[in-house]
Amino acid sequence: MNRLLEGKAVVVTGAGRGLGEAFAVHVAHAGGAVVVNDVDVELAERTAAGIRQHGGRAVASGHTVADPAQAQAIVDLCVEEFGAIDGLVNNAGLNYEAFPWDDDVDRMRELVEVNVLGVMYTGMAAVKAMRGHGGGSIVNISSGASLGQRKLGVYAASKGAVASLTYSWALDLEECGIRVNAVCPLAHTRMVWKSERSLRACPPDRTPSRIAPVVLFLLGDGSDGITGQMIRCNGPQLHIMGQPFLKQPILERPAWDTETVQRAFDEVFSAHLENYGLEKRVPPRLRKWTETTSTPLRTA
Ligand SMILES: NC(=O)c1ccc[n+]([C@@H]2O[C@H](COP(=O)([O-])OP(=O)(O)OC[C@H]3O[C@@H](n4cnc5c(N)ncnc54)[C@H](O)[C@@H]3O)[C@@H](O)[C@H]2O)c1
Repeated sequence: MNRLLEGKAVVVTGAGRGLGEAFAVHVAHAGGAVVVNDVDVELAERTAAGIRQHGGRAVASGHTVADPAQAQAIVDLCVEEFGAIDGLVNNAGLNYEAFPWDDDVDRMRELVEVNVLGVMYTGMAAVKAMRGHGGGSIVNISSGASLGQRKLGVYAASKGAVASLTYSWALDLEECGIRVNAVCPLAHTRMVWKSERSLRACPPDRTPSRIAPVVLFLLGDGSDGITGQMIRCNGPQLHIMGQPFLKQPILERPAWDTETVQRAFDEVFSAHLENYGLEKRVPPRLRKWTETTSTPLRTA
């Protein structure tokens, strides 16, 4: 195997099972030393022991990313054991399905603490260490669900937050030599097994190890100059995710009141509304506008 991470030290969070385990194992195969973090410490130790048995360098961490001091301890462990931190894969995550009227505030908070604050805490600790060491690469694990998905509002919002953090930190950190990208994966893991809909959308051959090469590429020097990107891989397909932008037409007047906003939508924006969500749902107003304004195609 190509030893593209030889000499590099990488932290992978949530690496006791699923995608994180595959990322940690592949990092080690590529010559990197790896901190295998998982709040389920037995699984973290099992993954780290497996890597060492195959001649790799790995140490386990049972810290939670959801606590700033413990997130700092994950990064400190990497620096103590391997002398530096060159890469961070912010992979630890939770999900559940619920309609908004049926959700639970404790479950919401727990998810945001892991999926959003955990990425921020671990990322912040890593950035401090990387800045003093000439740079590094951060790979955040986001999700296609960030585009909006039924029954996944809180999870989708957390992954959208990860996307915005990725773009913003990429801007902040370019001059420090730290690249920040995100990966949107699809693979058979516990997360997919929990949901009938996800299972239907995930053919059996979509294994976590099919996503690992994308993460390795982003950690390695071959991706030099690539930052602020969201990259999706579902097994066979690899593509860059488009980013939100300021859409034309932009109407301008000295001040807007509700009447002029109403006219702007009635006369201009009804035709420019965006299809929304991963399923690209057409908003009712746009549907109506299309029905009333489209002229039927004439046949010869
Ligand atoms: N599987 C997919 O198709 C898919 C799709 C999109 C995004 N993702 C994302 O990929 C990442 C990995 O998910 P997975 O599918 O492998 O799920 P998984 O449930 O198999 O693994 C997640 C791991 O994170 C660990 N973890 C949870 N909370 C933690 C914490 N506070 N600190 C440290 N570790 C913690 C868990 O113990 C678990 O081992 C997640 O961020 C998930 O949202 C997965």
